[in-house]
Formats: sequence, structure tokens, C-alpha cells
Amino acid sequence: MSPIIFAFILSILVMLDIPHTLFGWYEEYLTMVWKTMEPLDYRINEINGSSVNNELYHDIGWWNRNGWAKGLHIINDVRVEYYGREIEKSHRRFEHISGTPIGMDDSTYHQFVVADIGCGGGILMEGLQNHSYVKHIKRKIKFVGVDISRHSIKEAVIHANEHHHYHIDYKVASAYSLPFRNESIDVIMLSDILDHLDDLPRAMNEVSRVLKDHGKIVFGTITRRVWSYLNICNLAEWFGLIPLGTHDYRLFITPDEMSTLFNAIQFKPNEFIPMDVSWKFDWNGMVAFRNMIRFNKATLKKASCPVKGLYLGYAHKK
Ligand SMILES: C[S@@+](CC[C@H](N)C(=O)[O-])C[C@H]1O[C@@H](n2cnc3c(N)ncnc32)[C@H](O)[C@@H]1O
Repeated sequence: MSPIIFAFILSILVMLDIPHTLFGWYEEYLTMVWKTMEPLDYRINEINGSSVNNELYHDIGWWNRNGWAKGLHIINDVRVEYYGREIEKSHRRFEHISGTPIGMDDSTYHQFVVADIGCGGGILMEGLQNHSYVKHIKRKIKFVGVDISRHSIKEAVIHANEHHHYHIDYKVASAYSLPFRNESIDVIMLSDILDHLDDLPRAMNEVSRVLKDHGKIVFGTITRRVWSYLNICNLAEWFGLIPLGTHDYRLFITPDEMSTLFNAIQFKPNEFIPMDVSWKFDWNGMVAFRNMIRFNKATLKKASCPVKGLYLGYAHKK
């Protein structure tokens, strides 16, 4: 390009104030990215004024696999394997301690309790009913799903009844005030809810209150780093993979913060396993720009791999 044409284009851009607008936007963006680098112990205290929109769960359409909950459906098989494996380990230990062989004595009926806090429409709870071990033993496990959203619980109940999962009990309640007696639950599942809670220490204390001795927390959440901010808060929302306002990066939690939170309630954290969710291009979606990327599949990585976005883990009451 000749220098004269270049100078001409540049003067038009300056006249239209475009460099300033672009720079202003870029600067704001960098500031946001920079803010993801909060101190390491940032999440072990209450956070004020987060922007996560929990109301969007009221009519998310939990069971529409191509709707707004599609991300949760894509990762569900991997979650079911992981949570199911941990329930199996705890239940086998429970059977061993209570000395009752599996399937032999109905006196153990409903004594082993699994609670899913922030269960939404029950995608994980229902998925677990098809896990190889749980399927075999489910009559001996009491499942309770709890969520603050009345609409979500209504949808969960309707779907469970339609699919004959009458043994799952659903309740409307907050993670900060669980409707359970002290030391009455064996396994608590915290799947994709921790990054929706402003006051994590309060929720963790409440969970610890209701868990039995040697009870277990199995959880899945998102770490707080630039990668997760760019991919989960920006790209996934811009391309319509998840609803706008699903996340606030400040509520993401690093594995170190999870360890600190567990230690504070006398729990022993056991592992942090990164989950990878791949995407694929959908050329048909190019016409409507926001549909050009789709979720492909989820896989669990080795515990030694760095946690960049989603991760799963579990911890025991000491
Ligand atoms: C991302 S969804 C996860 C749903 C489900 N656990 C799953 O993984 O399929 C987060 C859920 O947490 C619930 N939630 C948010 N704040 C809560 C609170 N304080 N107490 C209980 N549930 C809460 C929301 O209503 C929503 O259903």
C-alpha cells in the first residue's frame, strides 16, 4: 500500500475516533483479564457483589439436550463415571463396616444417603441411576437433590417421575441452610455449584455439619486463571455455548483454595482431576455466527496435568 493511501486511511480512522474506541475496549479487556489474577487465597473469604445470574436456572430447560443446559449434558457421562466411582467406594466401605453383604438384608435400606446440592433439573442424579454399581444397588441408597430454584426442582420432580425414578427425593433449599440433621449424609455432591456461591466458607461449614464421620464430598468446579476466564466467561458465552451471565470469573476457585477450604473444615482433599471439553466447528452454523462452534466431548485428564478450566475431585471428613 502506498504511504499516501495509508496516511489517508489513518486520518479517516482518527477522525472517526476508531483507534480510541478500539484502544478503550482493549484496555478494559486487559484490565478484566488482569483482575483474574486475584491473590491465591481470594476465594476463602466471602465475596461481595458477584454478577453470576442464578435466576437464569428458573427456565433453563434442563432436559433439552440442545438447549442452554447442553454443556452439562455433554460432560454428564464423564461426571457420572467419576461420581459413581466415589459413591461405590464409600458404599462398599459402608457395607463392610455395617457387616451387611450387598443385597442380603433390607435393614440397611435407606441408611446410606447421597445428597446432590444445587442439583438443578437432576441431570447428574438421574445419570447416576444408570451407573453400573449404583444401578445394581440403588434400592439401598437414598438419593436427595436440593436446589434453591423452585422451578428447577419442579422440573426435576416431573422428569424423575416420568422416568420412574420415584426413589429420588427433591427439596427446595439453600446450600447455606441444608434441610438435613447433623451427621446424617454419607456422600455430598457439589457439582458445578461452588462457582455460583458467594460465601464458600459458610456453605462448606454447612456441608461439614450434615456429613457423617468419614463422609465424603465429591465436587466439580472451575479454576480461576486467564485461560478459564477467556474460554468459559468469554468465548463459551459469546458463541452461545452457555447462557450469558452464567459465570463470574471471581467466583472460580483454584485447587489451592479448595485445599485451604477443605483443611479449614477438617477434610482431607484427595485429588484434583482436570476435565477437558473439546469443541468442533459446525460449518452449517456459520450463517448464524453464534452457532458456529459446538461442544464435542468431555474427557478426564491425568491428575498430574495442570488444571486450566473444569476439574473434579473429592475429600474425606478426617
Ligand atoms: C450450573 S447449575 C448445576 C446443576 C447441577 N448440579 C448439574 O451439575 O447438573 C448450578 C445450580 O446451582 C443452584 N444454586 C445456586 N445457588 C444456590 C444456593 N445458594 N443453594 C442451592 N442451590 C443453588 C442453581 O439454582 C443451579 O441449579
